[in-house]
Amino acid sequence: MNEVNPGLSQRDLSCIWHPYTQMKVAPLPLPIARGEGVYLYTEDGRKLLDGISSWWVNIHGHAHPKLNAALKAQAEKLEHVLFAGATHEPAVALAEQLLSLLPPGLSRIFYSDNGSTAVEVALKMAWQYWQNQGEDGRRGFITLHHAYHGDTVGAMSSSEQTSFTKAFEGLMFPVRRVHSPYCHRCPVGLKRSDCAIDCLSDLERTLAENAGSIAAVLVEPMLQGAGGMIVWPAEFLAGVRRLCDQFGTLMIADEIFTGFGRTGRMFACEHASVSPDLICLSKGLTGGYLPLAVTATTKRIYDAFLSDDRSKAFFHGHSYTANPLGCAVALASLDLFRTENTLERVRELEAHFRRRLESLRGKKAVGDVRGIGGVAAIELATDGGGYFDSIGPRLSEAFLKRGLLLRPLGSILYFMPPYAITTQEVDWAFDQIAEVLDEI
Ligand SMILES: Cc1ncc(COP(=O)(O)O)c(C=O)c1O
Repeated sequence: MNEVNPGLSQRDLSCIWHPYTQMKVAPLPLPIARGEGVYLYTEDGRKLLDGISSWWVNIHGHAHPKLNAALKAQAEKLEHVLFAGATHEPAVALAEQLLSLLPPGLSRIFYSDNGSTAVEVALKMAWQYWQNQGEDGRRGFITLHHAYHGDTVGAMSSSEQTSFTKAFEGLMFPVRRVHSPYCHRCPVGLKRSDCAIDCLSDLERTLAENAGSIAAVLVEPMLQGAGGMIVWPAEFLAGVRRLCDQFGTLMIADEIFTGFGRTGRMFACEHASVSPDLICLSKGLTGGYLPLAVTATTKRIYDAFLSDDRSKAFFHGHSYTANPLGCAVALASLDLFRTENTLERVRELEAHFRRRLESLRGKKAVGDVRGIGGVAAIELATDGGGYFDSIGPRLSEAFLKRGLLLRPLGSILYFMPPYAITTQEVDWAFDQIAEVLDEI
C-alpha cells in the first residue's frame, strides 16, 4: 500500500460517500477484506470482533457455511424476478414459516427491501386501511420519544427529532409524540421500584384528546435501539396494546431491530403476549446477509383492501421486493434457529451479559447498565452531549486498538455481537470494556 498501489481505504476516499459520516473529518474507513464467525479481518491484517453485529443485522456469524450454501443454491436457480404478477418458492415458503412464528392474528406478508421501507409500508397501509373503510378522519400517528424508525421521510417523521433530522424539518409530516418508558431518565420523575407505569398515561391522554383521528400508534417493542438502547418494562408494551384497543386504533410494532431473537424471544411482542395489527421486520431476517424486509398484518386489514374498485389496492412496491436470494437465506437462517437452538443461546448470553454488566455498575464512568437478550448497554455518566458527544468516537478508537469493533450511540456504549459468540469471547470483550471504562 503506497502511492503506486493505494489500499482500499485510500481508494474509497476518492470515490465514496458514507452514511452518517462527516466526510471532511471522518477517519479512514476500515478496509474489511473478509468475515468469519464473529470476526472481521482487515486488508492490513487486523482481526476485529464484530461487537455490533454489523449494524445489528448479523445473527449466526459472518460467512456461515449453511447460509453460504443456501445463497449459492438459490443463485443457481433464480436470482430475481419481479413480484407483481409473479411469485416463487422461497417467497412463499418464507411467508408460510414466518406466519407460523409470528404472534397470533398476523396472517399476511408484504415484502419490501429494508427496515425503513417496511415502516413506510406499515404507515401507508394503516393510513389507507381507514380510508378504504370510509373513515377519512383517521390520519394521525402517535410515536414515542427516543424512537428511531428509519431514514426515509415517513420513518424519519415518526422518529424522535434530533440533530439527524433537523435539516429535513420542513420535509416531514407532524406526528404526536408521547413518553417512552425510559426508566433511567423517567419522564414523570419516578423510580421503577415504586411506579405503576405512570408514563403510559401520556399515551392515554393523547389518544383520548384525539379520539377518532389517530390511524395508528407506532412503537419499538421492549427495546428502543438508536434512541439509546432503552429497555422497557413489559407492562408498558401490554398497556400500548390495551390503549389501542380501547381507543379503536391500530398498533404497529417496529421489530426491525428486536425481531429474530435479539431480545431473547423470537419477537419482542412475546414478552407481553401482545399481537400488533402490523409488524415490521428486516435486519436479522436474512441472518445479516441481504437486504429484505417484511410488513405483516392481519386478515382484518388485508380484507379492507379487497374490492372490485381497483383504487382500493395497496399501490406500493419496490424493484427488489421479495428477492429470492434474500428469501432463501432467510429460510436457511430460520432453519439454524431450530437446529442450533439459537434462542436458547441468546438466553444464555443474556444471563452472562447481566453478570458482567452488574460488575461495571459501580464504576465512576458508568451512569446505568441495562440489557435484554443479546444486547448489553452502558449509559455513561456524562452530561449528555447526545449522539454527538465526543466520548463516542474516542471510545470507538480505544476499542478498535484492542481489536473490538463498537460504535457507541453518543454516551450509550453497547455490545451486541452475533449470537454465535463464545463465552470466552464475551468475557474477553467485557474485559476490554471494563479496562477502557477505567481509562476514560
Ligand atoms: C427499530 C428500527 N426501525 C427501523 C430501522 C431502519 O432500518 P434500515 O436501516 O434497514 O432502513 C432501524 C435501523 O436501525 C431500526 O433500529
